[in-house]
Amino acid sequence: MFDTLPDRVSIYEVSLRDGLQNEPVIVPTTKKLRLLEALVAAGLSRIEMTSFVSPKWVPQLADADELTPLVERRPGVTFSALCPNEKGLERAIASKIEEIGVFISASETHNKRNVNKTIDETLATFVNVIAGARKADIKVRGYVSTLWGCPFEGKIDPHRGLDIARKLIGMGCYQVSLGDTIGVGTPRQTQEIVKLFLAELRPEQIALHLHDTRGTALANVLVGLECGVRDFDASVGGLGGCPYAPGAAGNLATEDLVYTLHGMGVRTGIDLDRLWEAGKVAESVVGRSLPGKVHQAGVRSLRS
Ligand code: HMG
Ligand code: MG
Repeated sequence: MFDTLPDRVSIYEVSLRDGLQNEPVIVPTTKKLRLLEALVAAGLSRIEMTSFVSPKWVPQLADADELTPLVERRPGVTFSALCPNEKGLERAIASKIEEIGVFISASETHNKRNVNKTIDETLATFVNVIAGARKADIKVRGYVSTLWGCPFEGKIDPHRGLDIARKLIGMGCYQVSLGDTIGVGTPRQTQEIVKLFLAELRPEQIALHLHDTRGTALANVLVGLECGVRDFDASVGGLGGCPYAPGAAGNLATEDLVYTLHGMGVRTGIDLDRLWEAGKVAESVVGRSLPGKVHQAGVRSLRS
């Protein structure tokens, strides 16, 4: 095991979006900016900062149009936002964001609850959204949710997710992030899913987006790494959850991922001390203690 570890992996930070969308409090824009700056200072270079979804559906991110222009753009850092439809794309273009994420579920029931459309209707919407984004020189990433299991339908046939991912890539997504939305996945299942996708897609075309509800996310990352995945989503402190997927707890904590990768000699470009400090900022911004293990244990104690 671990004979073919990469030198480096890419981490896609989702705390400002996946994290804050699921908080009971609405975090003020200025505090979001403080967290964003702490994440950039830690070396994160791919940061999903908000969503251009309906403010009625996700009031926590209703300030997306105000937040996005306030963020200083810098070379080497990509900022992105979720975008469900053409109205979202108009907002994304107006805000001059460089990347959007379209999202869809492998489960019909979760998709309907999340975006009020069937899977086919959602894919039809994406044709114009993705083409419009590409025309505006905006990169597009895709998400396929509930691949490991759905809170309404239970086990999902991963072939359904692969069929959707194939269509998203065909429409112009550069990468599809495979979502264990409610954190039910276990390692052998992860191996089956990842191998199925990698039989058809190149490693750089997939990422893993693992919620850590049952403590299996890191184990699933290790399986993904072994199979050739090089892109992982994570959220500082372990913030996160989908408001339209009951039981979806926090994402894999970025600190836990970085600590584990660095310990195995895999580079991330992230400074773990500063990342830990960003976790403290996240904690103060949401006003509650966060579940990440490294966040709780600290990093400095290791060196004394
Ligand atoms: P709808 O109500 O069916 O929308 O919602 P509609 O098209 O019928 O429009 C109704 C009203 O919403 C209209 O306004 C539209 O203008 C407005 P009105 O005429 O009533 O004043 N509207 C919008 N406003 C702002 N921005 C927009 C927009 N679109 C319509 N983009 C919709 C459909 C998709 C908008 C809604 O269902 C929605 O916003 N859903 C978002 C749900 C969401 O954000 N879920 C969490 C993210 S997914 C996730 O967390 C999973 C992930 O992390 C991966 C994983 O973990 O697996 C990505
Ligand atoms: Mg998620």
